[in-house]
Amino acid sequence: MYTVPRLDDYSPDALDKPVADLTSALEQESSAVTDEPSWKEFRDHWMARKNGILTQINDLWLKAAPSPRKREVGRRVNELKAKVEAAVEETRERISGAASQAKFKSDALDVTLPGIRRPLGAEHPIVRTMNDIVGVFKAMGYSVAEGPEIETDYYNFESLNFPPDHPARDMQDTIFLAGQAHKPARDRLLLRTHTSPVQIRTMEKQKPPVRVVIPGRVYRNDAPDATHSPMFHQVEGLAVDTNITFCDLKGSLDHAMKSLFGSSVKTRFRPSFFPFTEPSAEVLISCIFCGGGGYQGAARCPNCKASGWIELLGSGMVDPALYGFVGYDPEKYSGFAFGMGVDRIAAMLYGVTDLQLFFNGDVRFLEQFS
Ligand code: DAH
Repeated sequence: MYTVPRLDDYSPDALDKPVADLTSALEQESSAVTDEPSWKEFRDHWMARKNGILTQINDLWLKAAPSPRKREVGRRVNELKAKVEAAVEETRERISGAASQAKFKSDALDVTLPGIRRPLGAEHPIVRTMNDIVGVFKAMGYSVAEGPEIETDYYNFESLNFPPDHPARDMQDTIFLAGQAHKPARDRLLLRTHTSPVQIRTMEKQKPPVRVVIPGRVYRNDAPDATHSPMFHQVEGLAVDTNITFCDLKGSLDHAMKSLFGSSVKTRFRPSFFPFTEPSAEVLISCIFCGGGGYQGAARCPNCKASGWIELLGSGMVDPALYGFVGYDPEKYSGFAFGMGVDRIAAMLYGVTDLQLFFNGDVRFLEQFS
């Protein structure tokens, strides 16, 4: 390691050699520095107040110089001091730059890391079921219509032949909008309880022949549990034309059920009542879980309660009273209508035992359908 020599000749020419020796020692020691600890050693060797090389040249060269030479020696010593300080600073910059560059290199790209996963979304099982049902009717020549979820009393009830205060309104526990009391009864707003109002809206807009399916959300004041939800889904259907009979209703719905649940499924029509159809029928299908026998081995089938049948939808021949609301000639036209709950069908098709799973947004449930 470099040590400072004593001088005996202080003439300018004689100073050149020790200055050059010192400078080359400085450069050599600087280039040997590779990290923070070796830099600190380097700095202290050259700049420590006590016995650093700068202190030594101050003592051994400047202070020892005879008075006439002091001026020249002082100039050289000052130059060397600036050189040393610059070298120490540059060396520090070099190693800290190298350190951050090494860190950057290691952060930049690790091709062995797993990539960023962008999971694909998927159709919600209810939407998929709704599309499946709509697809079956589209294939039979039906078009698709939709209507508002906030509906007037007129479309939801009155035009469907539920007069004000008619007991049939009690079948659908309705959610009404607040602040409607000042309006005439028929204009008051509510959340539609079924998709049937879109039957009327469709007939108001177009003349027969009508063949339309209407998917959508509906609302009732039911507490949520495994089999109920205040918001659920229906697919409605309407066919109006000349010469449409109950046979068309039976044939169309039988075909639709076979398309949806498999060709071995049987249908059964049971008398019922809806204000907007006459006659009305409930449609049942043979149980898709036990094949209609009511038993799975020796066990009673829980899906059809051992009856062999599952009730699936409401239907009927359009009550001629409805044609009066939309300006169709009831002597000329006839038609049938039907409405089914999508949520229960989706639950059956996918083996879901709690309807709430469809609506509480748990990705662990939903991603099983992707
Ligand atoms: N709107 C009825 C309901 O929500 C279902 C229904 C029954 C619709 C018979 C129809 C029909 O179009 O003809 O309970």
